[in-house]
Amino acid sequence: MNTVERAIDRLRQEWGARLFIPAHYYQDSAILRHADATGDSLELSRRTAAQRGAEKIVFCGVRFMAETADILKVPGQSVYMPDPAAGCPMADMATDSQAEACAKRLAPVWKGDWLPVVYVNSSAAIKAFCGRRGGSACTSSNAVRVFKWVLDSGKRILFLPDEHLGVNAAHDLGLPDSQVAVYDPLKPEGGLTDKALAGAKIVVWKGYCHVHRAFTAEHVLHARARHPAARVIVHPEAPKDVVRMCDFHGSTTQLIDYVRQAPDGSEIAIGTENHLVQRLAEEHAGRLSIHPLFPSTCPDMARTTPETLLAVLETWPAANRVQVSPELAAEARLCLARMLTL
Ligand code: 13P
Ligand code: SF4
Repeated sequence: MNTVERAIDRLRQEWGARLFIPAHYYQDSAILRHADATGDSLELSRRTAAQRGAEKIVFCGVRFMAETADILKVPGQSVYMPDPAAGCPMADMATDSQAEACAKRLAPVWKGDWLPVVYVNSSAAIKAFCGRRGGSACTSSNAVRVFKWVLDSGKRILFLPDEHLGVNAAHDLGLPDSQVAVYDPLKPEGGLTDKALAGAKIVVWKGYCHVHRAFTAEHVLHARARHPAARVIVHPEAPKDVVRMCDFHGSTTQLIDYVRQAPDGSEIAIGTENHLVQRLAEEHAGRLSIHPLFPSTCPDMARTTPETLLAVLETWPAANRVQVSPELAAEARLCLARMLTL
């Protein structure tokens, strides 16, 4: 154990149950060893919201996750990030004013018969946009369930900000691609005619995760050529052509479960964030043969280091505190609360 690790362990002992450290699966193993909970976005939202006794929450992940913890916190709790610059480029691809413009664009065609569904990988302002319109948040674990909830109520869906998760979840529900339209916030009218809007049950926002969009059909063909016995599995933030060529797709937790349940001796090529792929390869070494479909890393997730974690635990800098304004938090909480009940 090095001096930084020892210092973190000592501070965690001093704080005891008054400190809670959640860490996303995409964090480095050097961070996960200090975490009180590891999980995907959905699990961490649930676990963190249940920590009523913790005074300080130090979120090892990216900003939208820490914001979600702040929105769900109880009075007396405060939320920090080891590196406040750890953002999510996809979350930044939808702003409140763009979402409002989109709602105006939908209004004459969809009338009032639609609900927004926002991926938790979004800003607090976008969650507030969703909350005040009666919509729900979702993660990659429950997107299909949340979409079904809206469609079963007879309404259409505006999903933002990830085009690919939206398209893949719609396909999983059995919807033909012809009933899914892509809204481009950078184009006049979102790049959609009234006819295209009228024919769509789901409109997905033209945003993407660069880590998962990096996976291509060529990567899948290459993996199959090099490892003919391998199963190829990907996260649904990957483009639809890739997802449809694979043997399985699922959220971070679903991919982990797939690997855990794979029979001994299996070979698996995995298309998700590379820290997780490498950790799975280490954990199952000797039992399974695991390869990255392509080594794609999230630089924002990698900003959290043992050194930045220690610095926040030692000095609690105000600049590392994540605070969503009470007004935004009240509206954003509505869509998160809805997701947690679905
Ligand atoms: P999940 O944790 O919901 O699988 O999302 C993946 C992701 O990109 C997190 O940043
Ligand atoms: Fe954002 Fe993708 Fe990084 Fe997740 S992996 S934080 S969605 S850029």
